[in-house]
Amino acid sequence: MDYSFKESNIPTILVIFGATGDLSRRKLLPALFDLYENNLLPDMFKIVGMARRGLSDEDYRVFAKEAIEKEKKGKCDEIILDKFLNYLVYHSGDFSTPENYKKLSEKLISIEDSFGACSNKLFYLAVSPSFYDVIFKELADSGLTIPCNQEIGWTRVLVEKPFGEDIKTAKKLDETLGLLFKEEQIFRIDHYLGKETLQDILMFRFSNLIFEPIWNNKYIEKVELILNEEIDIEGRGSFYDRIGALRDVGQNHILQMLAFIAMDNPKEFNAEEIRKNRASVIEKLKVVPKHNLQNYVLRGQYDGYKNEDGVVPNSKTETYFKIKAFIGNDRWRGVPFILESGKALDKKRAEINIHFKKMEACLCPPGVEQPHSNVLTFRVQPDEGISILFWVKKPGVEMQLEPKKLSFSYKDEDAKRITAYERILFDAIIGDQTLFTSTKEVSAAWEFITPILENWDDLELHEYKKGATGLDDEL
Ligand code: BG6
Repeated sequence: MDYSFKESNIPTILVIFGATGDLSRRKLLPALFDLYENNLLPDMFKIVGMARRGLSDEDYRVFAKEAIEKEKKGKCDEIILDKFLNYLVYHSGDFSTPENYKKLSEKLISIEDSFGACSNKLFYLAVSPSFYDVIFKELADSGLTIPCNQEIGWTRVLVEKPFGEDIKTAKKLDETLGLLFKEEQIFRIDHYLGKETLQDILMFRFSNLIFEPIWNNKYIEKVELILNEEIDIEGRGSFYDRIGALRDVGQNHILQMLAFIAMDNPKEFNAEEIRKNRASVIEKLKVVPKHNLQNYVLRGQYDGYKNEDGVVPNSKTETYFKIKAFIGNDRWRGVPFILESGKALDKKRAEINIHFKKMEACLCPPGVEQPHSNVLTFRVQPDEGISILFWVKKPGVEMQLEPKKLSFSYKDEDAKRITAYERILFDAIIGDQTLFTSTKEVSAAWEFITPILENWDDLELHEYKKGATGLDDEL
């Protein structure tokens, strides 16, 4: 993996489909501005925003300025921001008209003329998945994805999850992609992979001798993978009600957390090996038995969800799930992996807890309940970092044990942290696919999730109050 800026310093054009949407406003434009501020964009760079709204270049710059200032809560250097805005141009048009792609192509050619060079091109689909097919097809038909030169001028497509809605639609989407583009051109985004703590799991596991030898079913009791949120569906009713929590974050973010925790050592630090090992552990997930799904899966919906805009009045969509999963390989056989996520809960908490087994015998003082267990926690957010809970003697004359934490937090570090979207955009520009999901990972994840979705209706849908900690029932 080469992160040298030199490599990324090739003239590049980023086309964003859905340039006025929520994702562009809240994540992409602020992340691109941050990359610019940190001098991590190529010298010759342009962002072409494409959407249906009729805006001029200047209107779009005003739109972007407001979006960035809002996300940065006013804390950005106006002079740098104004310079960044010069990178932006706007192309208005709907996504299904071939004529629009012809015009887009002319725009890209005129940008390349102004660079005086053939440029790399990235096409970012920040749109509802219902537009994927038509955009892929039009991109390919219009010739926009043909590189302008053999050596440089590659083209890449960036696709946001969800990749399909079940195994069947995901396969169809992949077939379409596979017909039009090569795998090395396809960057499937799961922004959790861009999170610092997730990447750190690999470094932590494979650079410290003290954990890897006990990273297996002999020493680990259970693993919890949690992505709980305080926010509710925030006005995304019509999208969310079709998708539900399991598709929204279970099929992707949580299974990627699991992959980093459970995968084998890739031995080589490159995209191919890391993606291969992530895929093979997801493939080893055991399909949850249909006949007693209730012993493995819980689902819930927050009180008031049915009144949200865009949600059907008798909706059975889950806003919460908990799954007990098992991995069928020698390392993990018998260890439960608890996957949990919910909206409108008491607090934002994305973390992974590795519960080690209790010591078979401990030097515990008489009368003290024994033995105790250690817990290693990867905090994905907020307060990214790692901590371990261990047991020590309580100071004083009595022989008593108490739990303590060894903890490390990224916020205490001097180094500048980058957001997941900055990371992802940067890696897409330099062409590193490590933090993007491969076709194998996507289909392995659907193979595990689809049978649960197919039997959802057999399960009780528990109602929970907004602000609850989750569903308490044990699995
Ligand atoms: C998105 C989901 O992929 O991830 C959202 O669509 C969810 O529903 C979000 O809120 C969580 O991401 P983060 O980075 O805020 O934890």
